[in-house]
Amino acid sequence: MALKKLVAGNWKMHGLSSDLGEVRAIAAAAQDYPNVDVVLCVPAILIERAARAVPGFAIGGQDVHSEEKGAHTGCTSALMLLDAGASLTIVGHSERREAQRESDDEVKAKVEAALSVGLGVILCVGESIEVRERGDAVAAVVAQLEGSLPDTLAGEAELAIAYEPIWAIGTGKIPTTGEIAEMHAAIRGKLKERYGSDGDAMRILYGGSVKPSNAGEIFSIADVDGALVGGASLKAADFIPIVAAAAAVEGADTIA
Ligand code: PGA
Repeated sequence: MALKKLVAGNWKMHGLSSDLGEVRAIAAAAQDYPNVDVVLCVPAILIERAARAVPGFAIGGQDVHSEEKGAHTGCTSALMLLDAGASLTIVGHSERREAQRESDDEVKAKVEAALSVGLGVILCVGESIEVRERGDAVAAVVAQLEGSLPDTLAGEAELAIAYEPIWAIGTGKIPTTGEIAEMHAAIRGKLKERYGSDGDAMRILYGGSVKPSNAGEIFSIADVDGALVGGASLKAADFIPIVAAAAAVEGADTIA
């Protein structure tokens, strides 16, 4: 089943008031591609200003706390993200799983907290280079996914999965089309096992060194329903060609 593609930008720890012009440029250009969903996940402190700058364009967060509120200095709740104008948030990015030592259990709790208040989620999974070289990538990613998925799909908020091999993030290296197809098929299998037909409707994004030059090929792989883009999402000049590549292959999954 061909799903409408989702191209998400992850600005990580980049973005000041002076970058709101880039947010406006991306939002304006994205209107030319109505057959693609586009979202920019900006630093939490920029969400409200970004959302006000581009009404009607989707703005997301990059992390969320698992509790509704309380004594958690420096953290941001799902309701706070919604209140600021975010429609979804990234959860379980490998940079957080590594640097903040987020476990699958913690990631799962964050996903459930977001979905329960109507905040969509892009849940990230991905293997290290050691695991890939050992030949264990599919089993490791499926196990990570199993441990991070919510018990139930509460409400209408979207849950998308992003497969991001850690060794492909910010390195310019990407897996082969066959490796991406194999992993996305395995993720789809797990989603269907867990959620039945709802698992067919969940978008599976690829992330890790997606650029204008490789996006078209990546988007034509079966079960690649979009991309999570880091470095190339910071400038409209890089990001919009990726959105255009998604628009061009919409409905045409070819590489199995
Ligand atoms: P990259 O980052 O596109 O710069 O490789 C992707 C990500 O970390 O989400």
